[in-house]
Amino acid sequence: MRAIHIPRLDGPSVAELVDIEEPGTDGVVIEVHAAGVAFPDALQTRGLYQYKAPLPYIPGAEVAGVVRSAPADAHVRAGDRVAGLTLLTGGMAEVVTLPAERVFALPDSVSFEAGAGVLFNDLTVHFALRTRGRLAAGETVLVHGAAGGIGTSTLRLAPAFGAARVIAVVSTEAKGETARAAGATDVVLADGFKDAVAELTGGRGVDIVLDPVGGDRFTDSLRSLAPGGRLLVVGFTGGEIPTVKVNRLLLNNVDAVGVGWGAWTMTHPGYLAQQWAELAPLLASGAVSAPEPEVYPFERAGDAIASLENRSATGKVVLKVR
Ligand SMILES: NC(=O)c1ccc[n+]([C@@H]2O[C@H](COP(=O)([O-])OP(=O)(O)OC[C@H]3O[C@@H](n4cnc5c(N)ncnc54)[C@H](OP(=O)(O)O)[C@@H]3O)[C@@H](O)[C@H]2O)c1
Repeated sequence: MRAIHIPRLDGPSVAELVDIEEPGTDGVVIEVHAAGVAFPDALQTRGLYQYKAPLPYIPGAEVAGVVRSAPADAHVRAGDRVAGLTLLTGGMAEVVTLPAERVFALPDSVSFEAGAGVLFNDLTVHFALRTRGRLAAGETVLVHGAAGGIGTSTLRLAPAFGAARVIAVVSTEAKGETARAAGATDVVLADGFKDAVAELTGGRGVDIVLDPVGGDRFTDSLRSLAPGGRLLVVGFTGGEIPTVKVNRLLLNNVDAVGVGWGAWTMTHPGYLAQQWAELAPLLASGAVSAPEPEVYPFERAGDAIASLENRSATGKVVLKVR
């Protein structure tokens, strides 16, 4: 089969298309049509992610395709359209084999390209807003990196989970357009976002900040919370891991909340299935729109991964595998 290999830890440009043996058949064997690209793929190509795969490795945490074969007791069978999580490598290949609990039936209305971009971010955002963030009906959500994968996922999902308003924070006007298309109620630029948010909310602030960026925005994010607000710590694309003076939490009655979706799924068997049972009908009915990813040809995997590292990506990025 054809697959993408990362042979050494010198960044996305080392990605190469190779011919290798197909994986074994102990699990659900999927003929991959599209593979998702996420920020950890970029970090891993430089050895900067907490999980370090032995070299050479196949990048890619999520796929969509058609089941070739499945164990008799699995909930899917040959011919089914599915999305699957490799967590965290192996997805950028023509064939993957996954444990059944990480394979999910894809609604007919969701294309393979959209389906390859749905699990990693949407399930993280579902965990962030519902389980960790306790989003209540009528609340206001602010999301940083709003034109990115996690960002556009938040814009698509938050209204379906009850948010009355979703404020997108982006670095450029062009990314603002992407955020609006994904459902942002309001768009503000990262530079000076605290004052813009104060003005938009009449000084009250927001109930939830979902933060995949970190860095120097953190303190202003805490300052942007209304009393009882929650700052959801999702990632650090800005590079720097911020620190928090906990007196700020006490003075304003706000929470800084860790969101480690992957770790949660390891300690909560059945949680992924529960999440998908909630999300799939919303996607099938159109109550939550499917992602509209930027699609790269398979052989341009290096460019696709680099677009996340160099901050040029808009929306979710996906590879068309076949
Ligand atoms: N906690 C979890 O369970 C979990 C699960 C999945 C992903 N994540 C994390 O969530 C984060 C976002 O992932 P993603 O796939 O959404 O990434 P993405 O598509 O690349 O989006 C990230 C956004 O971060 C912003 N950004 C700010 N400074 C940046 C910089 N120096 N370099 C690159 N981007 C920068 C960019 O928006 P602007 O240019 O508009 O600022 C960009 O759109 C990553 O850290 C990832 O590891 C966490």
